[in-house]
Amino acid sequence: RQHGVAVLGIFVADLAFRASSLPGVGQTIAGSGFAMGPGGKGSNQAVAAARAGAGVTFISRLGQDAFGNDALALWSREGITPRAPQVTAQPTGAAFIYVHEVTGDNAIIVVPGAAALIDAADVDAAADAIRGARVFVTQLEQPAAAARRGLEIAREAGTVTVFNPAPALPFDDALYALCDYITPNEHEAAALSGMPVETIEDARRAGDFFLAKGVGCALITLGDKGALLHSASGSEHIPVFRAGAVKETAGAGDAFNGGFAAALAEGATAHEAARFGAAVAAISVTRAGTAPSMPTRAEVDALLGRAA
Ligand code: RIB
Ligand code: NA
Repeated sequence: RQHGVAVLGIFVADLAFRASSLPGVGQTIAGSGFAMGPGGKGSNQAVAAARAGAGVTFISRLGQDAFGNDALALWSREGITPRAPQVTAQPTGAAFIYVHEVTGDNAIIVVPGAAALIDAADVDAAADAIRGARVFVTQLEQPAAAARRGLEIAREAGTVTVFNPAPALPFDDALYALCDYITPNEHEAAALSGMPVETIEDARRAGDFFLAKGVGCALITLGDKGALLHSASGSEHIPVFRAGAVKETAGAGDAFNGGFAAALAEGATAHEAARFGAAVAAISVTRAGTAPSMPTRAEVDALLGRAA
């Protein structure tokens, strides 16, 4: 299980449109740029972890189509081991990503396609990869029942669990007690806790909510306010790193989670791993695209060295 990270999640093709605003219903506007590339929160996290130096297995489902073949080509290039059968029942999914042409802020519609069919049996079929990893990571773009099964297998095996509850969708409270780390962003933390989460102080209160639900540690990201690592032993604020002008924030959370998981798998403390994840995210937002914007290990080490 050397530096091993197992990720359960989805791959989709990201179709990113740059424009000055989102069009209203019935409106057509001209955009200023378009790009297609690999996306899906789980696959993006797998790419971030692999570029950070982790040995990564990715558990998913794909359609039998061009986007499915793109996924396999991506993972092969990135050295990621797929456990992702290609099925005919649904096509591989896609995401519409609006990118504000000046601020880089984003809005996303994701259709998981074949990955919406991932079930507990798929996860059982890849149980050896979860048991053999140091860290298991999952999100909520595939059904929550699959996420739960993955967390259960990891917990039984002593694999560290990281649950990124994104997008903000309801799930069974039983999942909380399976989380060594829960990693919502400010919006997800607010939706789950029912409290406003804007400031670091808010994040502390939301963190208490997650601890009361049974998680080991809450790691709440707050955009340009950094992140808060909150456990029974206290709270630590992780400041943001600056690596250049912000170009596109889509995928920043995935960069953070993938970097965090890779560093944990190497034996870093939670605090060190969160700083590492923050550095990965800082570099990713200076570049276009989601998965393609993930930095190499050398780039992250250089940013951490400069900031140390
Ligand atoms: O977190 C960003 C990702 O969310 C995008 O790559 C898009 O595919 C959506 O799933
Ligand atoms: Na980016």
